[in-house]
Amino acid sequence: MAGWTAQARRNGHTIGFVPTMGALHEGHLDLVRRAKAAHAEVACSIFVNPLQFNNIEDLKHYPRQLDEDRALLHEAGCDVLFAPEKEAIFADFTPRTYDLGVLNDHWEGPSRPGHFQGVVNVVERLFHYVRPDEAFFGEKDRQQLALLRHIARQELWPVRVTPCPTVRAADGLALSSRNARLDAGQRREATILYKSLQRAAELAFRVPVATVEEAVRSILAQEPNVMLDYFGIADHDSLIPLQDWGEQDKAVALIAAQVGPVRLIDNLTLAR
Ligand code: PAF
Repeated sequence: MAGWTAQARRNGHTIGFVPTMGALHEGHLDLVRRAKAAHAEVACSIFVNPLQFNNIEDLKHYPRQLDEDRALLHEAGCDVLFAPEKEAIFADFTPRTYDLGVLNDHWEGPSRPGHFQGVVNVVERLFHYVRPDEAFFGEKDRQQLALLRHIARQELWPVRVTPCPTVRAADGLALSSRNARLDAGQRREATILYKSLQRAAELAFRVPVATVEEAVRSILAQEPNVMLDYFGIADHDSLIPLQDWGEQDKAVALIAAQVGPVRLIDNLTLAR
């Protein structure tokens, strides 16, 4: 990777970077196209990071399809694929404990202990090897994005962390590599996540926060096979749960639920 980066720099090119765990879908390819629109050179990584899985079954079943991914990346305009072995990326490396602050206190933080430390540690390693100018992340993982922006500022990482809109299927389901593990019935049931978020967006700022949460819970009750982990409304930037709307003109609704064999997450910005 170091040789490629050095050559790109010698050519006076800037580098856009899309880190992934593979099993690529249109959401990832959209990030690659955005990176290519802004930079002469685009690198993409595929690495299923064991540090960020707190569920061994999830890690074992995480979809892997390197040949197919390589072809998709080429078509989308990616110039180089970085697909390191675990031994290579973590050679001479001891994971650090980062100060994640309040951004780790809610939502995915308590539900997946250690997850964000694992994400930040691997992203630091990926940035270390690729040395990009700008890295592109999907808003679907809103808390991951907020944390990486926070850590990039705190640690003075010389990389711009850029948010990109969630890409959805025609029925609203946020694209995710894990969707591939849903059967047809579960796939249909999973659309309740986005329907709930849309209902929250309709009601936001018009009725109390608690009323929105009640309305969403009754929508979710229509799909007894969808096991809710959390639904809530949070401050748009700090992701601290909101008890009332206050003066803000924006907030965010976040949801996580188990659907069949997979845990899905989604979120939507709520605007006044
Ligand atoms: O969002 C992901 O796919 C992963 O969390 C990331 C950022 C590639 C780190 O492993």
